[in-house]
Parts: sequence; C-alpha cells; structure tokens
Amino acid sequence: MAGRIPQSFIDELTARADIIELIGSRVELKKAGREYRACCPFHNEKTPSFWVSPQKQFYHCFGCGAHGTALGFLMEYDKLSFPEAIEELAGRLGLDVPREAGSSQPDNTGSTQPLYDTNLKAAKYFASVLPGDARAKEYARKRGLTRETIEKFMIGFAPNSWNELLKRFGSTEADKKLLFDCGLVIERERTDSRTLDRYYDRFRDRLMFPIRDSRGRVLAFGGRIIDQGEPKYLNSPETLLFHKGRELYGMYEVRQSRVALKRLMVVEGYMDVARLHQAGVNYAVATLGTATTPEHLRRIFKLVNEVVFCFDGDKAGRAAAWRALNNALPEARDGRQIRFLFLPEGHDPDSLVGEEGRERFEKRLDGALPLSEYLVAALAEQADLAHADGRAQFAELARPLVTKVAPGVYRDLLIDRLSESIKLSSARLNQIWFNEVTDNRGNHLSGGDPASEAGLPASGQGGRSAPRPRDGGGGKGLVTRAVKLLVHFPTIATRISGAQLTQLELNDDAGSRFLFELVDQLQQEPAAHTGQLLERWRDRPEVARMRALAAEEILGHDETSAALELTAALEKLALEPTLRRLDELIAKGDLSDDERAELKELNVTIHRARSRGTQNPLGNASGEGQQGR
Ligand code: UTP
Ligand code: MN
Repeated sequence: MAGRIPQSFIDELTARADIIELIGSRVELKKAGREYRACCPFHNEKTPSFWVSPQKQFYHCFGCGAHGTALGFLMEYDKLSFPEAIEELAGRLGLDVPREAGSSQPDNTGSTQPLYDTNLKAAKYFASVLPGDARAKEYARKRGLTRETIEKFMIGFAPNSWNELLKRFGSTEADKKLLFDCGLVIERERTDSRTLDRYYDRFRDRLMFPIRDSRGRVLAFGGRIIDQGEPKYLNSPETLLFHKGRELYGMYEVRQSRVALKRLMVVEGYMDVARLHQAGVNYAVATLGTATTPEHLRRIFKLVNEVVFCFDGDKAGRAAAWRALNNALPEARDGRQIRFLFLPEGHDPDSLVGEEGRERFEKRLDGALPLSEYLVAALAEQADLAHADGRAQFAELARPLVTKVAPGVYRDLLIDRLSESIKLSSARLNQIWFNEVTDNRGNHLSGGDPASEAGLPASGQGGRSAPRPRDGGGGKGLVTRAVKLLVHFPTIATRISGAQLTQLELNDDAGSRFLFELVDQLQQEPAAHTGQLLERWRDRPEVARMRALAAEEILGHDETSAALELTAALEKLALEPTLRRLDELIAKGDLSDDERAELKELNVTIHRARSRGTQNPLGNASGEGQQGR
C-alpha cells in the first residue's frame, strides 16, 4: 500500500461524491420519489428492492440487506479495496489522491508509474508474439488454452533471445534501468567484454503469464518453459511493485466478472487459474509459488466470507495445505468459512477441470473439509486417538494452533470439536489450555464490542423492533434512537445546545459517551450527509451498527422534526442517572436523613425536566420501529 491517504481528503471526497451518478453508471436506476431504485446488483431479483438516496448518499437493499456509501458500493460491486475505491472515486471527479509522506511503499503517482508502464509494454509485446510463433501457439493449444482465455489473461510468449526485450524497450540507459527495476532484464556479473551489453533478457523461450494487481496493472510475470526444462516456471524477482506473498494471480480477472462474488478458491498454479476460469470457475486465484500468507487471507476476506483451498492430493499438496491452515487460523472467525479441498492423487485443478468440466468439478466442493474437520483429521494422523497417550499428544499438538485463533465464538466451537475427538469436555480443555475456570461463552460473546455497550442494536440486521425502554435501562433505547436520527440527518447535530452536550458528557455510561463523541465531532465538523458521516467512522467498531441504522427507515421525519426529537431524546437521556439513583434509593427503603433529602431533590429535578418535556410536542423519544414502504 502506498502512503496513507489523508482523512481530510477522504472526507472531502465523500462530501463531493454523487452516489446516483456512480451507481447509475453501473446499474440502471429509476427515479422513484426522492430516491432512485433498481433491481439489486447484489442478489437475484425480479422486482426492484434496491434504493439509492441522493440526500443521504447511501444505498440499501430491502431484499438482501446490502447497504453502504459510494465508497462502500465500489468496494462491494467493483470488488476494490478501500484505497482502490478512493482512487476510483477520485478519478471520476478528476481529483488526484494525495498521500501522506513517511511511507517507503510504492505510490502510483510519483516514481512507480514508469515501472507499471514498462511492464505493460512488455506484456503487450509478449502477447503480440504468441499468435505468430508456431511452437508457442501449438504448446498453448496442447495445454487446452482457448484464444479467449489467452486474451483474458493476456498470456504471451517471450522469444528465444537474450536481448529482444532490451533491443525493443531499452534504447537509453534510463530505459534499461527501468527494465532492470521491473526484473525483466538481469545484470551481467562481468562486463569486461565491450561487445556485451550490461544486461540480458530474463525471460527467454517461455509462455508468459502477466501478474496483475486487482486494478489490472502489470506487476510481474511468470514464465513457463515450453515442454520440459528447469526451472519449469521462472518468476519475476521481488521488485518495488511486486511482492510475492501479497499478490494473488487471477484477482484482476476474478474482479472483471461482474457476477456477485461469494467465495474464492485458492489454487497453486497459473495454469490452474487460467483453466478454471476457462471452464467457468471464475473465482479461482493462485498464490505465486509461495504458501498462502496471512496477508493473502486478509485480502481474501475483504472480498468474501468463504475461501476454499484446493490442493493436489499428493504429499506436496498436503504440506501446502498444512501451511495454509496455519496461516488461516488467525483469520478464522465466526461468519467466515475456510475449507480445504483435496484432489485425487496425480491431479491438479487444471487437469481435473479439463477432464470433467465445471459442474462435476464444483460438485467436489460439497466434499471440501471445513477447517475444523481438516485440523482434526490432520492431527489424528499424528496422534493415536485410541489411547490416552495419543489423546494427550493430540491436545498438545492442537494447543499452539488453537491459540492462533482469536478468542470468540469460532474458537469456542473449534475447541468443542477438538474436545469431542479426545473425549474430554471442552470446559476441561479450556482449563488445560487457557487456565480458564469456566467455559462461559457469554464472556466471549459480549466482550469488547463498544457498539453493543453503546446500546446500539445487537444484530447486524438492526433494530426491527427498537429496544423497549425499561426502568434503569431506558438510556439504551434512547441512545439508539438518537444515533439513528443523527445518522439519517447529520446536520441536526449543530442544533444541540452546549448545555445539553455538557449534560451528555456528564453521563458515564458507554452509550452516552459514544453519543457525546458523535455530536461533538459533528458540531466541530458538520457532515453534509449520511454517507460522509459513515465514511468518517469507517474504521471504528461502531460503524457497523451505524450503517445498519442508516439502512433502516425513518418515517415521517424532516430535519426540523428530527432535530426536535433528538433534543427531546437527549433531555431524557440526561435524566437517566437521576432516574437510576431514584430507583436505587426507593429500592433501598430504609433511608437516612441525607438520603431522604436527596430523594426529594431528585424528585424535583425530574419533575422540572418532565414539565419542560411536555411543552415539547415530540417529547416521546421512543423508537418508531421499522415499517415497510
Ligand atoms: P506446479 O509445478 O504444480 O505447476 O506449480 P502447474 O501449475 O501444474 O504447471 P503446469 O501445469 O505443469 O504447467 C504450481 C505453481 O508453483 C510455482 C508457479 O507459480 C506454478 O504455477 N512454481 C512451480 C514456480 O514458481 N517455479 C517452478 O519451477 C514450479
Ligand atoms: Mn498443472
């Protein structure tokens, strides 16, 4: 990744973005009242339930629940990473994305552009050679590659020459240096002979697979020898643009297919990817001669929740699967599916899909092992579960692996599964491994989620029914309601008085603190619309709940009425600690003189606040619940 994009730029960008224009360029939108609607691009449907609001700069599908901002749409629909989505959106507005200094990483503006250009020139050249070279063409045919696939993957051929590329693209010293920096030419160790150039072509007599990033820029190449020879595949070295452990071959091509992406399949080879796509398995990507790295997995899980690793059934395949498992554990969690598919010995995806076609190949996915099952099976191979010794050994082997998984539901389930295999209770296993006295799941489930502490709805689907205010806990419903109003109408934050904000600040519950921060921030830096607000909170855990609230209806409100309701809600919220203390004292029964005086004081405060409240026609700040259109 290049240097950080300044938050101020993202903020300006989201303020200026036009979500209607953006989504309209990809999906046919029809105007319907103040909003626009379409058949949802994220699921199959015949009647449109996908709505885009120009006021809020937010989209939402009532069918599948998809929702988000302009940047979110680009990430989902174009399958871009966050920085890529920013680049794309900025590009549409004719803006250059500024980068903060202090990063050694390459940047697509400055110095690396000539490298991309050089790689592209080379790729185009290789691609142009292939159709005219009988031997290369025959080899591609023999490998079952169609012309379409060759074009889709920009596959080419590097002629059998030591300096063809140099001659074409290395006329000046600067150009030669560029070829060198791209890894396309190699520097000679000795240049004593005057007749020899300092460099020579790296790729000679090879079928060339350009490795592209998800935006289609050529980063590097893999070259396969025609027929037999060593090494079978020659890859570009690590360069400023190319880091093997990060890229996945085929990612660009995956993203090019506009179908909703549910899962990715990770295979081992270039040829596997090309032939899988050719057969219609257009979600295949490959690591580049390395194990699957945690970085790969983070990239994958930004796009999809399901990944299937596909390995040859041989020893090398098993070893690769084991490494993949180890690297996948830190990324495993509830809601993500990680599975392992082992192919019959002697086969790789390339040969198999060629033989049996897409349908039968995909049928094999039904038999793919979930991570937990594969883990159990692999460990059981190393320890004999029939005996107590073996079971103890199993537990010892499993322990370092399980600790790689973040605490939570997924880890608990994994421990359950492992404990089953060794006939030990999961509570006992937890105790042995983590010194946990109890296997109380509640701890894991509720821990560390500031959004739920903040009283926002617990489910991602969000607030079909607003939490019912109850004595002592009424603040939660109020916070949710207030946040919902602010998310829908961010501009109303400026109507909150300083006194009210201070009241809020004095409350010490997590919900009020969160609300205070939200209002305070919006007062200092007003947001024009929902989309801009959500982008500011993108990196915060509360944002998921905020998005869910944005996706909910808010009926019968305009800015003025929303502002009134917000004020009323905050007033009630300010009263919460007083009400709680009142409850406390009443519950106590036998009161001291001081406490009796306090009780009286509290009652006066509450009475005053309530009579103020009744003057407000929108004094009732309870949730309205969700209703259809
Ligand atoms: P394989 O040896 O399994 O090749 O290497 P393959 O994909 O089946 O290739 P074909 O079908 O014989 O053409 C899998 C991957 O490992 C890397 C490459 O990325 C290759 O696609 N590899 C393999 C190398 O980098 N160098 C090698 O010499 C061999
Ligand atoms: Mn193969």
